Amino acid sequence: MSDRIPIILDVDTGTDDALALAYAVRSPRIDLVAATTVAGNVSVEKTTANTLAVLDWLGAESVPVHRGASRPLVQPHRDAIYFHDEGGLGGARLPASRRSVGADRGPAAVIRLAFQRPGELTLVMLGPLTNLAIALNVEPRLADWLRAVVVMAGAYTVPGNTTPAAEFNVLVDPEAAQQVFAAPFRDLVAVGLDVTERVALTRDDWDAVNPGSSLPPPAALLAEVGKFAFSALSRDQFSLHDPLSVAVAADPSLIQTENVTIEVEPVEPERGRTRIVGPGSVRVATSVDAERALHDFRSTLELPTAGRRGLESGTE
Ligand code: BDR
Ligand code: CA
Repeated sequence: MSDRIPIILDVDTGTDDALALAYAVRSPRIDLVAATTVAGNVSVEKTTANTLAVLDWLGAESVPVHRGASRPLVQPHRDAIYFHDEGGLGGARLPASRRSVGADRGPAAVIRLAFQRPGELTLVMLGPLTNLAIALNVEPRLADWLRAVVVMAGAYTVPGNTTPAAEFNVLVDPEAAQQVFAAPFRDLVAVGLDVTERVALTRDDWDAVNPGSSLPPPAALLAEVGKFAFSALSRDQFSLHDPLSVAVAADPSLIQTENVTIEVEPVEPERGRTRIVGPGSVRVATSVDAERALHDFRSTLELPTAGRRGLESGTE
């Protein structure tokens, strides 16, 4: 359908990246043009295999996947297996994909697609910003060829989630983040922990997809990728960092923003801290309609709600 927003997703799949892919595939507002992968939550070999497996699971075998950077620009890669488990998908058992990755690598694919459709594509970055920094270095005109860029990156008025100062995607590659925040995009939106931590699934959501019977693919995906967080780690909440960022690309009215300049701290002990240093052209998310975002996510993925509704309405 021509009125869908054409989107490229850059992912480090990743449990919440997997749900973001499901959201993009299922949203009637989105045309998922391609996915590019990067080293982040796990190695790029794993994020690529996971991305292919998740898309195939969702019946989106036609979405091309392009492998991207295997390490950050400057420092060695650090992963997030403490939250996403060794394989990156929270213990999910999905069939391995049998298809191949696209011929060109992540940054090259973004440049090619943006060149072919100038002013049309929205790029949503859900991992470390390495691929976009490389692409901008190779082709600075990319900043003008993209209609919009949404990055899930940073913590502006709240503590970090990986160190007290830093959010994971920025901490893994602060030099890339600094270059992206300084680039002259038409429209750059930074979606940080300030808003993403307010949009979280609960244990009730996970319980509702674990009835042991057959479920539609997106609900079954949640049952699988939620295992590590809700069962092994006994978490009560699962923040929808990456799905919210995709939703914002399709429906900007979910958030309020402020126009700022962002600087990234390059050295320890606060390496990766994102600071608002004054007015500027980056639109940083300051608040979110969390209720609407959650409702939109649950309905887009067609998650079962009967159990939760029963509890909420006091019918238990
Ligand atoms: C971000 O870090 C990753 O672990 C998640 O996938 C998300 O992109 C949240 O800080
Ligand atoms: Ca991610």
